Amino acid sequence: MAEFSGKTVVILGATGVVGSGVAKAFLDAGAFVVAVSRSAAKLEELKKTLKVGPGAAFATAVGDFKDESTTGRAMAAIDQALGGRAIDHVVSSQGFVKFGPPPTQSTAAQLTDALDDGLVINFHAARALLPGIKQRPATFTMVSGGLAHMPPPDPAMWMGTLKNAAVNAFTLGLAAETQRDLVRVNTLCIHFGVAPIGGSQNQFGLAAERDTVGLAPAFLALARGKQKGQVICLGSWGDVDESEVPLDGATGAWSRLSLQGAAGGEGPRGLNQPGPRARPFNVQAPTRVRLHHAVGAAVARGGGAPC
Ligand SMILES: NC(=O)c1ccc[n+]([C@@H]2O[C@H](COP(=O)([O-])OP(=O)(O)OC[C@H]3O[C@@H](n4cnc5c(N)ncnc54)[C@H](OP(=O)(O)O)[C@@H]3O)[C@@H](O)[C@H]2O)c1
Repeated sequence: MAEFSGKTVVILGATGVVGSGVAKAFLDAGAFVVAVSRSAAKLEELKKTLKVGPGAAFATAVGDFKDESTTGRAMAAIDQALGGRAIDHVVSSQGFVKFGPPPTQSTAAQLTDALDDGLVINFHAARALLPGIKQRPATFTMVSGGLAHMPPPDPAMWMGTLKNAAVNAFTLGLAAETQRDLVRVNTLCIHFGVAPIGGSQNQFGLAAERDTVGLAPAFLALARGKQKGQVICLGSWGDVDESEVPLDGATGAWSRLSLQGAAGGEGPRGLNQPGPRARPFNVQAPTRVRLHHAVGAAVARGGGAPC
């Protein structure tokens, strides 16, 4: 039997680069997938891309998590798509990053817009979807990017730094709220470019070693793993490969990454006792340098950021 057979996964931002790969991976692993997008047309395109046929374990919901009223309608559409199924996993991979003038030349409206499309959509998603799965062995996973941890190599990217750092910090807030609940809230912070299905560069022209299908095992690993309250930084594709290493029983897959995660360790124990071992994030110097070079090269070419 497929590993996620009988499980139900709701994916927000399912038509996007990251979300589409996650949708494919969970479908292939036997899950019932509810793909959520603001656009019915993009969901139809996604079905073609994923070769979803009649009778497939796949449903769609049109919805937008930008504010409370649209979130209410989105949840009604998701409930209908679920058809009474309970949710086992939520992946919120909504929005990308906004670019704009340097901080002192940006307007407050541009800043608000950047946070609306990065942080606030995740906030509404958490408010709407987390309460119902708190007491289930479920997961709620958000997505951010490595710009979170560094001064942006180009000031035009400062809102990406802010948005990704805000999502990572929001994870910690949700981690504190849910530390005694069954649900596991985590964020995957991706430090490299990811291409759309079958592609070789991300949407801003940054060369990507693999496409989103190559990234998706990291999401499956989180769903089957033990990580709780973590911002898990994927510094390289090697970290994705590591996610596929079988559980070791004591710490679970990704033990090296998890133990250095934002919450300072595994689950409630780590949250309660950050201790001297805890480090804010597991960005090591070589990764930082690699990322800096990658971003610098992309900017020089007139391309974009890796996240
Ligand atoms: N791609 C990369 O190279 C890369 C690298 C590192 C990190 N990341 C991170 O991965 C996450 C997802 O990125 P992605 O590359 O998958 O981006 P993407 O291709 O733009 O997909 C994001 C999806 O979110 C949906 N969305 C829902 N509400 C939105 C809103 N208010 N504003 C904008 N989009 C909204 C959009 O789908 P609909 O239009 O269909 O609603 C869109 O397709 C981001 O946090 C990003 O920083 C990406």
